[in-house]
Amino acid sequence: MAYKHFEAIEKHAPLLGVCIAIMVSLGGLAEILPLFIQAHQVKPPANVKPYDPLRLAGRDVYVQNGCYLCHSQMIRSLRFETQRYGHFSVAEESVYDRPFQWGSKRTGPDLARVGGKYSDKWQLMHLINPRSVVPQSNMPNYPWLAKNAIDGADIQARMRVLRKLGDPYTDADIAAAPEAVKGKTEMDALIAYLQGLGIANEPRQLADKPSVDGSVQ
Ligand code: HEC
Repeated sequence: MAYKHFEAIEKHAPLLGVCIAIMVSLGGLAEILPLFIQAHQVKPPANVKPYDPLRLAGRDVYVQNGCYLCHSQMIRSLRFETQRYGHFSVAEESVYDRPFQWGSKRTGPDLARVGGKYSDKWQLMHLINPRSVVPQSNMPNYPWLAKNAIDGADIQARMRVLRKLGDPYTDADIAAAPEAVKGKTEMDALIAYLQGLGIANEPRQLADKPSVDGSVQ
């Protein structure tokens, strides 16, 4: 009986096509729906705070200048990655990243935990001319960042938009933003952003359980 049904379907290409489409869609939904539900359940840990105004400005400079074209901020849970870059990335670290900077394009090293690896001075020299500190580097120079000022009103507008999307900025945070970026250049902001990567957004459970040997916890 059942065999006859299969035969009927298999002998009618359009019907077979429709049945395949239905099955593939159901399979697709079964894979995608749990991810959607999970995404809403990722809550920021208490010590992962939204970006302060200067680092928020630095993040924009990072995105505007296409740093992500050569640098990912996602350490995979593979031994050779965790040995080189530190604990693998977890979703909680990126809750305030819009858009997030995950990826796999690595002309340069992953930057997810580059904060504190070098001094501010090194970062400055490296951004002005990477070859002054890493002779074999093929990273471009970004000298103009040191000349462009950060606009306080612009940062306030960005913070308001992020608040609408759910970031817990208070009125006082937004009011204080222009003072925090006063006199700062895009270079200052970018360096502040880089120096916080993997430090300012590190969830407590990672700090308690460093995993540089690649063991999955
Ligand atoms: C064309 C590709 C390319 C682009 C675009 C690029 N970089 Fe790089 N970056 C590299 C390469 C290659 C290295 C490794 C050599 C070196 O240290 O200069 C590197 C290294 C770095 C390092 C040191 C990482 C470490 O762990 O030693 C930092 C920090 C960095 N880049 C930041 C940036 C920032 C910020 C931007 C955007 C303003 C940027 N890069 C744009 C290719 C790139």
